[in-house]
Amino acid sequence: MILVYLKDITGTLGNELSGKRIALCVTGSISITEAPGIARLLMRHGADVIPVLTPRACEFVSPMIFEWSTGNPPITKLTGKVEHVELVSIQSSKRADLILIAPCTANTIGKISSGISDEPVSTLVCTALGSGIPILIASAMHEPMIKNPIIQQAKEKLEREGVKFIEGSLVESKSKLAEPEEIVQAVISEIGKSKGDTKKESIAKSSLRQETTSDEKRLARLGVIVTAGPTREPIDQVRFITNASTGKMGVALAVEALLKGSKRVCLIHGPGVVVPVSLTQGDGRVRMESVVTTQEMQDSVLSKLSKGGEYNVLISAGAPADYTNLSPVTGKISTSEERTLKLELSATKKIIAVVKEQFPKTFVVAFKAEHGLKNSKELSLKALETLKTSRVDIVVANDVARTDIGFGSDYNEVLVVTKDGKVRNLPKASKNEIAAEILDILAEEIHRST
Ligand SMILES: Cc1cc2nc3c(=O)[nH]c(=O)nc-3n(C[C@H](O)[C@H](O)[C@H](O)COP(=O)(O)O)c2cc1C
Repeated sequence: MILVYLKDITGTLGNELSGKRIALCVTGSISITEAPGIARLLMRHGADVIPVLTPRACEFVSPMIFEWSTGNPPITKLTGKVEHVELVSIQSSKRADLILIAPCTANTIGKISSGISDEPVSTLVCTALGSGIPILIASAMHEPMIKNPIIQQAKEKLEREGVKFIEGSLVESKSKLAEPEEIVQAVISEIGKSKGDTKKESIAKSSLRQETTSDEKRLARLGVIVTAGPTREPIDQVRFITNASTGKMGVALAVEALLKGSKRVCLIHGPGVVVPVSLTQGDGRVRMESVVTTQEMQDSVLSKLSKGGEYNVLISAGAPADYTNLSPVTGKISTSEERTLKLELSATKKIIAVVKEQFPKTFVVAFKAEHGLKNSKELSLKALETLKTSRVDIVVANDVARTDIGFGSDYNEVLVVTKDGKVRNLPKASKNEIAAEILDILAEEIHRST
């Protein structure tokens, strides 16, 4: 039975996966809690999702959650209907367009790489491998498991057979499941319709998007520095002033700059920014630098720019602390001794201003976070003002008072203002999609100005 009313979210974020049937295989990892959200996000991009669960996954959560989140009955047992064949057979009207295992345990990786098929997930993959149906795996496990040479060999073996892994990040001794947005983007890259067919394409019906291929060629000449996340200004040696930035937008920009073929990308990020493995295990084009204070972020940017033409673009997506404490205390201030505390703060230098002063030829994209503006007209006026006063090349502005976008969210909605006074509204979309649009505009602008 298909529960149509549970599918009413289908296509609300785009139609890239419209008409695509995805078998979402779920295994016994604690990250299983993310799987219903991944299913919903796939649906929001147009997909029909068929949940397939291992017996261990069914012990972790009730399959009912997947029935609700996908509107399709979960496959938890193989029956006389031979569900694994139905999802793979060329003759079947229910053939899946893609198999996604998320989260995938070390156990399931080991089993499918050895051809073991003793429950629905491994049997489905065993049937599908070699059938032409793309298989994507997003694993999650403790660090020792992912470093286990047998698991590494199993992954390599599967990769040789065309299976693709969506890497998460290594945090707190765990190889975490990739972000739902990254997983869905990987699915879209694999089987999604070309962007020209999608709803998102209405963002830029202008000639800009049609020039993607040449834009990407233009990016090949660029060395791109991206700043991401907050910085900290110390009060004493354990306390600091900071802000709510998580660095997700900057990370998305670095990933997209890399995907679009930039010559080199340097991500300079503040504390707490989660860097995906796709960047840490880059192909030699990526550099990563972690900084703490605003001064360190500035010094790092300047030192990269001083390296004789290695970098010619700065995307200033970081949110360095705007104030620094003039008298940080060595040690820890005692609250029993200091019942009130007065801090003297001084505004930090704007990194983009220093860059424009010392390296005027650098192409600079500035991010402007505004708070609680009345409407987008007001936001665009502020952005145009920043463009003029700071002499940067592009201003990307958003309203950080909104809780559904911006700080911490996987989504953003921005205005992009370019030197010719054009204001483009990029409607709410994932940060990866917004990042891709910004890089297309950047490529176009660089082309126009050279
Ligand atoms: C609370 C808990 C969390 C677990 N999380 C993971 C995990 O994230 N990754 C993993 O590889 N195994 C994890 N395991 C171990 C698997 O559940 C175990 O290897 C199981 O046999 C996997 O079965 P499956 O792959 O058929 O679902 C976890 C076990 C428990 C008890």
